[in-house]
Amino acid sequence: KKILILNGPNLNLLGKREPAIYGSLTFTDFFETIKEKYNTVELTYFQSNTEGDLIDKMHEVGFSFDGIVLNAAAYTHTSVALGDAVKAIETPVVEVHISNTFAREAFRHQSYISPNAKGVILGFGLQSYELAIQSFL
Ligand code: DQA
Repeated sequence: KKILILNGPNLNLLGKREPAIYGSLTFTDFFETIKEKYNTVELTYFQSNTEGDLIDKMHEVGFSFDGIVLNAAAYTHTSVALGDAVKAIETPVVEVHISNTFAREAFRHQSYISPNAKGVILGFGLQSYELAIQSFL
């Protein structure tokens, strides 16, 4: 199976960014461990701080891959365009967040992704990504 992990803005700073909320592991280190752990799956990772690049990537894989694990980060709460892209493609998208966004500021309670996602996993730290991968197996 082909699964894309797609990370949005500021997630390139994982490990350095607000470690009390997001943990101290870098995503590339985490990605290496899950690639080994789920070695029956073809895992790909892409991160961008740019909304259009995230949409382009979804269009690129969204008619051939088996699943997308999407952490749209702050765009989750702002981007109609990303929400539309999730709806436009055929590949099912599982929305993930590292933190429990409902336990945080009110502006994080809204998601433009959720209505079109297959499911949502949040609040389990980086394990949220693993649970999303497992949902596609
Ligand atoms: C996040 C939650 C968002 O509200 C925030 O803007 C992020 C990360 C998370 O994974 O917990 O950048 O998506």
